[in-house]
This record gives sequence, C-alpha cells and structure tokens, in this order.
Amino acid sequence: MKFFVDTADVTDIRALAGSGLLDGVTTNPSLIAKSGRKMSEVIAEICDIVEGPVSAEVTATDHETMLAEGRYLRSIASNVCVKVPLTEAGLRTCKVLSDEGTPVNVTLCFSANQALLAAKAGASFISPFVGRLDDIGQDGMGLIADVVQIYRNYAFKTEVLVASIRHPVHVLQSAKLGAHVGTMPPSVIRALFKHPLTDKGLEAFLADWAKTGQTII
Ligand code: G3P
Repeated sequence: MKFFVDTADVTDIRALAGSGLLDGVTTNPSLIAKSGRKMSEVIAEICDIVEGPVSAEVTATDHETMLAEGRYLRSIASNVCVKVPLTEAGLRTCKVLSDEGTPVNVTLCFSANQALLAAKAGASFISPFVGRLDDIGQDGMGLIADVVQIYRNYAFKTEVLVASIRHPVHVLQSAKLGAHVGTMPPSVIRALFKHPLTDKGLEAFLADWAKTGQTII
C-alpha cells in the first residue's frame, strides 16, 4: 500500500519524505488556502521534494477551463497529477487529460457508481472520501470494499486512493481491503509508528543496556 500525505505544508512534507516512506502528496484548494502561498509556487516546491505523484486540483467547474487549468498545472512539473472533481465536466476533462498521458486523480467520490465512471474515464486514481461519509453516518470503508471489488472484476488500472482518512484504523482497514493508496494528514502517518509497548520495551532495553557500561561502537 502506498502512503501519500494530504497537506500543502512543505515543512511536514520535507520531514516525512526524509523517512523514505512517502510515496506521494495530495493537495486540494482548502489545503492550498491553508498554506497561505501561491499555488504554482507551492506545487513546484512539493514536486522538488517528492518524486512520486503530487495531486494539484483544478478549481474551474466547466470543461474547457478545467482542461486549460489541468494542462497548466501539469506544466509545473513532470510528477504533477491533475485532480478533478467527480462531475460530468470533471470526468470529461479526465478522459482528455488521460488520453494525453497526464495522470488524473478524480476526487470527491462518494459512491461506487461514481468510481466506476472515473475508471471508464481513464483516471489514474479515484479518491473516495471515507471520513466525510462516516461523518454523516454512512459506511466509508464499505465504499472502499465495493470499489476495490468492482475494479478487480474488470481489471481496471485505476488505483483506489483512500482519502479523508481520519485515524489509523482507516489505514488498517484500507490495507486489509487491498486499497492501493491511502492519503492521510501528517498526524495520522506519525501515529502509525506509535505503540505504548514499543516505548515501554525500548525504555527497559536501554535501562538494562546502561547497566552493562558497554557501547556498541
Ligand atoms: O484531500 C481530500 C481529502 O483527503 C480531504 O479530507 O479530512 O478534509 O475530509 P478531509
């Protein structure tokens, strides 16, 4: 399972990239707004830090302008993945960009039928939002199970990118279901490392080691 970080904060991205465990980055207009920076500059900087795909989202709602924005975003760096919303215009744009060889991430997916349409439009990634479904009392992970099954049934190449991940259990469930990618806030990635028994065990090992008076090198 690939790990993407869902942020436009370059300090966090740089730190997580240093772990060697980061496979890509996703952004959205809200995250760009939160960064307080010009979109083209922050996307270029992120693309320099991370080799993998960096999702940059269009903000137009009509096909022609989405296409122009998508082509512009793709010109920023070779690892830009253009993100479009799951609307008719978004999928039309997805088809054209995908046919041109541009990877496209279709976002704001809340149903399996929407995910089926995105795969047929040639999307490289589909982003079902699990947390936002859970928020309204629907089954976010149930949607992931459905999409993974449907894509397997037809051997679609579109990767299931689980988005709106809120906690480590979402990551575990995504991995068990065979989702290709999870995009998560930096805090969730960091939480995956942690276990109280790891901390307790290490503390005991180091206390015993100190008693020996030895050093390894
Ligand atoms: O970037 C899309 C998605 O991951 C947003 O998550 O927490 O705003 O629902 P959230």
